[in-house]
Amino acid sequence: MIDARVHIGQVCFDNPVMVASGTFGYAAEFEGLVDINAIGAIVTKTVTLEPRPGNPPPRIVETPSGMINSIGLPNVGVEQFITEKMPFLSTLTTRIIVNVAGKVNEEFAQIVARLDEVPGIDGYELNYSCPNVKEGGLSFSADPAIAEKVTKLVRQKTKRLVIAKLTPNVTSIGEIGQAVQNGGADAISAINTLVGMAVDINSRKPKIATITGGLSGPAIKPVALAKVFELVQCVNIPVIAIGGIMSWQDALEFLIVGARAIQVGTANFMDPGAATKTLDGLLSYCRENGISRIVDVIGTLKT
Ligand code: SIN
Repeated sequence: MIDARVHIGQVCFDNPVMVASGTFGYAAEFEGLVDINAIGAIVTKTVTLEPRPGNPPPRIVETPSGMINSIGLPNVGVEQFITEKMPFLSTLTTRIIVNVAGKVNEEFAQIVARLDEVPGIDGYELNYSCPNVKEGGLSFSADPAIAEKVTKLVRQKTKRLVIAKLTPNVTSIGEIGQAVQNGGADAISAINTLVGMAVDINSRKPKIATITGGLSGPAIKPVALAKVFELVQCVNIPVIAIGGIMSWQDALEFLIVGARAIQVGTANFMDPGAATKTLDGLLSYCRENGISRIVDVIGTLKT
């Protein structure tokens, strides 16, 4: 038996493999396809204060080794999330992290305060990093002062886990990481997508209605690794790695670099079992290498 547990803040996760926001719906969509409770945590699609229709289509395009999306945070809003999505989520035995986004600073705290009244939620991932919306979006993690302020506002509203999800589209992700740490975040998740673009050479039109979107998938994994490595050097709180994880070997690279946990994202679109396969692969690796606790792999990079 391998001990796969990892701790983030006061929460113990059965294993370090989570599913990334926006790639696993609200989990009910995957019922019957995969053993949802085997996944270390479900990070929900972003929840906003009011319902949002999202961006006009086309809003997803495949690119070499990647995918560009400009979905625009469509969701039913916090009240309907509580009545429609939480009943299923609260039947799960795995950890539930609700990803939230506000249009303005105070909205993050307002949404978290409302969700804090609801049982069955282990923590919040603050989406400071969506490149696809006009109001808010990237601005929250492009400026350390704003990132710190919003995190502080949220921290005042909850004792549950607070995770700040950062963008790689900045000069120094380490500086933003320190800011959210100062604001009271328990952990950082990184990276969200890189701003990207694709053009149809026949029509000469952008392939995405909003012209640019967020690039994810294997194309961004080396960038993600470097950003996670930078964060691990700059902060004392745990870093949860996201970015092009398609296999257990990819996940292992991030753990070696120092990530406490990882999120499988774009791979879920190709294979609903991507996260559980990643976990199985990590456990087999540990078994074959005489490693009894997964945490013993974390931060073992030899430089
Ligand atoms: C989207 O809904 O546009 C993607 C979410 C994100 O990038 O945070």
